[in-house]
Amino acid sequence: MSNLKSSRIEGLHKMPPEARLRAVAQQADLKEEYVDVLSAAASGQITLADRLVENAISSMAIPIGIATNMIVDGQEMLVPMATEESSVIAAVCNSAKRCRSTGGFKTSTSGPIMAAQIQLVGATDPENVRLKVLERFDEIKEICDTVDPLLLKFGGGFRDLDIRVIDTAEGPMTIVHIIVDTRDAMGANAVNSMAEALAPKLEEWTKARSILRILTNLADRRVVRARAVWPLDEIGGEQVRDDMLSAYHFADADPYRAATHNKGIMNGVSAVVLATGNDTRAIEAGAHAYTARDGWYRSMSRWEKDADGNLVGILEMPMAVGLIGGATKIHPTAQANLNILGVKTADALARIIVSVGLAQNFGAMRALATTGIQKGHMALHAQNVALMVGATGPEIDQVANELKSIGKIRQDIAEDILARIRSEK
Ligand code: MEV
Repeated sequence: MSNLKSSRIEGLHKMPPEARLRAVAQQADLKEEYVDVLSAAASGQITLADRLVENAISSMAIPIGIATNMIVDGQEMLVPMATEESSVIAAVCNSAKRCRSTGGFKTSTSGPIMAAQIQLVGATDPENVRLKVLERFDEIKEICDTVDPLLLKFGGGFRDLDIRVIDTAEGPMTIVHIIVDTRDAMGANAVNSMAEALAPKLEEWTKARSILRILTNLADRRVVRARAVWPLDEIGGEQVRDDMLSAYHFADADPYRAATHNKGIMNGVSAVVLATGNDTRAIEAGAHAYTARDGWYRSMSRWEKDADGNLVGILEMPMAVGLIGGATKIHPTAQANLNILGVKTADALARIIVSVGLAQNFGAMRALATTGIQKGHMALHAQNVALMVGATGPEIDQVANELKSIGKIRQDIAEDILARIRSEK
């Protein structure tokens, strides 16, 4: 348990970040070495951190690595990925290399369409409310489009209404979906503002009461699809291919396995989403909800073999990412990463992200169906354990190499090795 006496710090949000760190350190009785760690981590980033979040005291660096070998819709790509997890980037590089001979990844999309929900309650005639709202289509379009003239200028704006009467524990509710083309924006701000502007009018027209007015992350009108073909000789033969198909069938039939299988896909997806300053949680929520759209949780991807015996992978998921708004535009690292990618539209970014997710899934399934994943993790894991026990400089490789040669990556063994190396100096 922490020794913290109180979690109240008067005026913390008004302090400059350095003073804030001091105040937190004092309250939490933080050792000076940790204050130094947080100060050093903040270096160069603290003004941005302070702009992005409340009560900022530091920043946390996540490694950015580059996935090579990617071809998306005929275009060669270098893809920055932000992840702390070993093997994720290596898996994408390897999987992308293995499908280069068939042209890499081919994608398609349903377009940048987002929706916000307005919850209408308290009406005795929810079906009537539904029709009353639909009759106001033109006025609704006008209200929504007035909220965001810039979006209109770029060819986006209100597109449609979808209104459902749902059964709930407290009776029926009318749920109004406003459907909006958000172009290169992720769209949360645009659709939320429209929903808030529209809600009072809906109340006036229907006499129902509006409560929630918020986008849905189940962005099922903003779906991106990627597919790729892995030739048999790149997979390792028929047995490996069939075992990979079995791995997929297992995931598609069993939610316990699907959760892990899909986590692997999200290892790739979220790493690119994060590297480009987009909202990882929005993408994750949308991906999992979309996967469970038939009422049960299954594999996000589909796998089959083609007439020549090659392995075909397909990934189809909502991909609400933007190039404007949020951290994307103001985070210099996100901007640098977008420049590596060379994308000019949110649509192009979304296609790359789903392709990376598919590559990741291929890599994980192939590793699991053959040698298992621990072998690939060994080298990096050994280095992490060496660092954990305090190895520095050349000691890191010495400890890691000995751990690998023993075949046991354990902290207690690493401690013994480090002690011995130091005593021999
Ligand atoms: C580890 O982060 C991801 C995997 O577990 C994915 C999978 O099991 O398919 C390797």
